[in-house]
Amino acid sequence: MLDASRLITDRARAIDWSGIRKVFELGATLNDPVNLSIGQPDFPVPDALKQAAINAIRADCNGYTPTRGIAPLRESIARRLHNDLGWAHVGEPNGSGLLITAGTSGALALAALVMLGAGDECIIPDPYFAAYPHMATLAGGRAVPVDTYPDFRLTAERVEPHINERTKYVLLNSPSNPAGVVASKRDCEELLDLCRRRGVLLISDEIYDEFTFSDATTDARAADGAPACPSPARLPGGEDVLVIRGFGKTYGVTGWRLGYVAGPSAIVDEMAKLQQYTYVCAPTPAQHACAIVDQIDMTPTVEAYKARRDLVVQRLREVTEVTTPGGAFYAFPKVPDGMTGTELFRKGVERNVLTIPGGVFSTRDTHLRISFATDPAKVERGIDILCELMRT
Ligand SMILES: Cc1ncc(COP(=O)(O)O)c(C=O)c1O
Repeated sequence: MLDASRLITDRARAIDWSGIRKVFELGATLNDPVNLSIGQPDFPVPDALKQAAINAIRADCNGYTPTRGIAPLRESIARRLHNDLGWAHVGEPNGSGLLITAGTSGALALAALVMLGAGDECIIPDPYFAAYPHMATLAGGRAVPVDTYPDFRLTAERVEPHINERTKYVLLNSPSNPAGVVASKRDCEELLDLCRRRGVLLISDEIYDEFTFSDATTDARAADGAPACPSPARLPGGEDVLVIRGFGKTYGVTGWRLGYVAGPSAIVDEMAKLQQYTYVCAPTPAQHACAIVDQIDMTPTVEAYKARRDLVVQRLREVTEVTTPGGAFYAFPKVPDGMTGTELFRKGVERNVLTIPGGVFSTRDTHLRISFATDPAKVERGIDILCELMRT
């Protein structure tokens, strides 16, 4: 019989199963848990979007698309980048590159494959989206985490000491997972300036861009009422930023696997080349459906999430430290001294409440990620239980 384990690379062995998946599997064994571990919105997918996907499938739009994506979606994204970031000429021969990708993850993975070789490094915030370090490792490079506790701001001052001749890019995530922190304009300016001075690329993972609350930062929304976009790509020199965004979180279609990357064409072109031989193209019906998203207004949903955020933060503040999330749908409170995130997570499981221990997103295990993307009554019940556990 084949000894299949002999075939596995050290690279694959070095990577453990995702901590989030483990919680997901644990959740499946509990009876009707209060699930505050979920990383996707709980609202119903807008009907217009569902209908557009159905129409696309019925209209036989089920085959491959061009590697870079279909024209109507590219045009809609180019308009959006123009409105949000002031970027003109996106996707045009001499303008910024644009590539439709298989989820935001597809863009992040291709960026790592294009820029990280053996010995190369990228800089990521700590805490981070759990896939960031592994994407760097899979590409053959290394992610260097920068401690951003306790306020979770990825500032130039914190990043600069970690830049060296092996550094290829700095990865900013705003609003962030797991803390929901929105970068201020000043932090974006200083980070962009640092990256340009040191000749490294600034990647801005803006997957939660639409989930930026109206009170996030005074500068997060354009004065002209354009959609929220706390993005360094909007600043002078912002055309040097590689912007990565997605549709999954914004419209509740995480399983459609659709995202995009826009920025310096030399990088985006290489990513498109590698996409040909990896993901091939982003899912076709999803591309057709998401070409109509400019007709969908998510503001009421974002407002509803803001109300949940207010409740969560207010309750947690009575027992612990928590930064106010300016966006996304997570809170990242500190667990009481003398307890680890994993210990509090386990105590929660005993009371049928699922969260994610901070150690899944960090080199430290001192916090807990709480998602409020679930039924508000359950959020309230779960928070009450967690507060009780933190008090004892
Ligand atoms: C910060 C961040 N970036 C990227 C992703 C990946 O998103 P996608 O489902 O579009 O691949 C996630 C998913 O949770 C995320 O939180």
